[in-house]
Amino acid sequence: MAARWICRARHVMVVTGAGMSTESNLPDFRSKDGWWRNIDPVTVATVEALEKQYELFHAFYQARLEALYEAEPHQGHNILAKWEEVGVVSGIATQNVDGLHTAAGSEQVHELHGSIHSIRCYSCGQEAELHAFHEGRGCDSCDGKLRPGVVLFGEMLPQKAWDEALKQIEQADVVLVIGTSLEVYPANQLPWMTRGRTVYMNMELNADASAFDAVITGKAKEVLTKLDKKLELYCANN
Ligand code: OAD
Repeated sequence: MAARWICRARHVMVVTGAGMSTESNLPDFRSKDGWWRNIDPVTVATVEALEKQYELFHAFYQARLEALYEAEPHQGHNILAKWEEVGVVSGIATQNVDGLHTAAGSEQVHELHGSIHSIRCYSCGQEAELHAFHEGRGCDSCDGKLRPGVVLFGEMLPQKAWDEALKQIEQADVVLVIGTSLEVYPANQLPWMTRGRTVYMNMELNADASAFDAVITGKAKEVLTKLDKKLELYCANN
């Protein structure tokens, strides 16, 4: 059914969360092996943590960056990139800060929670090199605290990414929501801002699942691979 909707759609929009990257060996946040199972986000992922507990803040993002060293996009990322290239997908709104969609070749990627790869000074905003952050150095200009370009709890989402994601969601005939618990506002509102069909592709189901037009339970890589095969079948015959 989802494959048929996708074949007939003019605009397919994708919304992804951390479950999209677990098969690239990056933990998500709320599953049994997720970051927030052992760490309270308030202590590491807030503006308050950055200001008052910089060591903890720094250690957490250092660990996140280290986890990324060997991470590569998987087949699911590649399929989404291919779907964009052939004109099936118009964009991806992602809560992920890992850059894996872009690494796979997707171009229309709206990073709603920023990117962990860009480092800047919290005080003066000057950009800094990744290695300066790794070394725990201060800003070259003002000695302020260095931070990754991710959205912390208590910060606004990047306006441009949000506006563009919203525009594409509003135009979409089909929205695929992949690997997110839909617990974090405002990204969790995006699936309800379309007039198109909504498809939830996730490993486990939560209360919001029943509000989708279709639900596919499973791992992102496997589900996208199967869907890709079905598209080849159905789209060729339509
Ligand atoms: P979560 O960890 O909350 O949810 C990930 C979802 O993906 C869970 O429901 C898993 O069951 C599912 N999942 C895990 N592996 C999967 C796989 N291989 N295939 C399909 N589904 C899988 O992550 P997000 O919803 O992305 O924000 O979390 C949203 C935000 O909360 C993050 O961006 C981060 C976090 O706090 C900030 O730090 C601001």
